[in-house]
Amino acid sequence: MKRAFSLVLLLVIWLFVFSALSIDARKYHTKKTKMHKNKKHKNNPAPAPAPLPDSSVFSILSFGAKANGVSDDSKALVSAWKSACKVIGGVVEIPSEFKFLIKPVTLQGPCMPNLVLQIDGTLLAPPKIGSWAKSNLYQWMNFKWLQNFTIQGTGTVDGQGSNWWCSSQVNKKKRAKKLPGIKPTALRFYSSYNVTVRDISIVNSPLCHLKFDNSKGVKVENVTISAPEDSPNTDGIHLQNSQDVEIMHSDIGTGDDCVSIQTGCSNIHVHHINCGPGHGISLGGLGKDKSTACVSNILVENIVMQNTLYGARIKTWQGGIGSVKNVTFSNIQVSDVKVPITIDQYYCDKNQCKNQTGAVAISGVKFDQIIGTYLVQPIHLACSSSVPCTDVDLISIQLEPSINNKHGFQQGLCWNSYGKSLGPLAPASMDYCVRSGSEFVKRISKSHDISCL
Ligand SMILES: *[C@@H]1O[C@H](CO)[C@@H](O)[C@H](O)[C@H]1NC(C)=O
Ligand SMILES: *[C@@H]1O[C@H](CO)[C@@H](O)[C@H](O)[C@H]1NC(C)=O
Ligand SMILES: *[C@@H]1O[C@H](CO)[C@@H](O)[C@H](O)[C@H]1NC(C)=O
Ligand SMILES: *[C@@H]1O[C@H](CO)[C@@H](O)[C@H](O)[C@H]1NC(C)=O
Ligand SMILES: *[C@@H]1O[C@H](CO)[C@@H](O)[C@H](O)[C@H]1NC(C)=O
Repeated sequence: MKRAFSLVLLLVIWLFVFSALSIDARKYHTKKTKMHKNKKHKNNPAPAPAPLPDSSVFSILSFGAKANGVSDDSKALVSAWKSACKVIGGVVEIPSEFKFLIKPVTLQGPCMPNLVLQIDGTLLAPPKIGSWAKSNLYQWMNFKWLQNFTIQGTGTVDGQGSNWWCSSQVNKKKRAKKLPGIKPTALRFYSSYNVTVRDISIVNSPLCHLKFDNSKGVKVENVTISAPEDSPNTDGIHLQNSQDVEIMHSDIGTGDDCVSIQTGCSNIHVHHINCGPGHGISLGGLGKDKSTACVSNILVENIVMQNTLYGARIKTWQGGIGSVKNVTFSNIQVSDVKVPITIDQYYCDKNQCKNQTGAVAISGVKFDQIIGTYLVQPIHLACSSSVPCTDVDLISIQLEPSINNKHGFQQGLCWNSYGKSLGPLAPASMDYCVRSGSEFVKRISKSHDISCL
């Protein structure tokens, strides 16, 4: 009796599941047909055979996108996002061979696990500055409160930033007046966990290209980021208050830092990056306006830098508080880099900043196998006069002057920096950069390092 009852129950459940599945499959079919019609209309090549039906794919085309690169498709994107967000392993699809103009949007969680934004086509930001709402100038696409989320695909995210750069010298004054004080970052992640960005291209952002803020468990892999060498403040990847980050196997060339690591970051691993043009890979500027900065456990390795202003760099403002600890730059190949090794504790974005005592304390920095050619100065370690840099080690440094230099070289500079050297040092004059510090020096440095515990 009991057994017969369970058999009936099983049958009922089976029927229920089966009918649910077939409804989903039908829904998907309508979606696909719509998409194919659209493609025909645009005279595109015959579509590839439809992949297996997948009820978790939500194409932006099924939500009314015009896909002409001119009409505003942001509503379609947000609708597709909201639908995909509700299912496990949902996919928002931006199909290839189409362009979508997207106004500033927030794509937020919480969503069901393993959501994917599949970008195979092109997303375009509004090119005219006037069409950006004043309240929306901080970023173009804002991803927030996401977990286990991935952006991937062979497509391009284009910030169309040229109007924001005012690089044309003639119009500089006239246009600077009209420009808003804030410029948008292209893609920004906020308060997100276990997120991955892979394979896509991100180009021509008005400001920073890809930013992670208050996030943990970030992976960036096989991306291409590019903007002109003279586009101002167009950082490639910007990290802030984020931990457990891996950035790898990517090409980054912009008008500013390839990767910029800011306060609140720890356990960051950057490796196998081609960087240039740009300003190199930087920690900071830290400690602006006497603020507290804490950065630790950073490993940057296996990097190729070409034609960059700096190579491996740490920059802090005078008067800051906090510390930078346990940083390694290893196997950095430089060619025609102006200043390959830099610590600058007098960082200033104007012509002159007020002299102040106090500084973000820097300790435990390894420059290891920095190899290649420099254009201006091999090394520049300008540590704070009041807070020495300690345990700054130079290991196997082999830097040669570049044959492309046209204006003469500068001697390396080292001020108030203590550490040791291992292996060959070229140029040999760098030897005085590695004075051994006494316990007294370490105590001064430690006494400035209490705010990050
Ligand atoms: C995210 O994925 C990880 C690893 O696959 C898993 O352990 C974790 O539970 C997932 N978290 C959420 C909120 O889905
Ligand atoms: C992130 O991933 C790790 C390892 O895969 C997992 O242990 C953790 O629970 C995940 N965190 C969230 C918030 O999903
Ligand atoms: C890297 O991304 C490109 C698309 O931009 C893709 O074709 C290629 O297969 C990816 N490589 C790896 C190793 O994933
Ligand atoms: C220094 O940072 C690396 C990661 O970059 C980490 O593996 C290592 O454990 C850290 N060392 C200390 C003493 O915290
Ligand atoms: C700051 O101090 C340096 C070195 O003592 C000096 O050359 C420079 O003129 C000072 N700058 C200002 C703005 O006072």
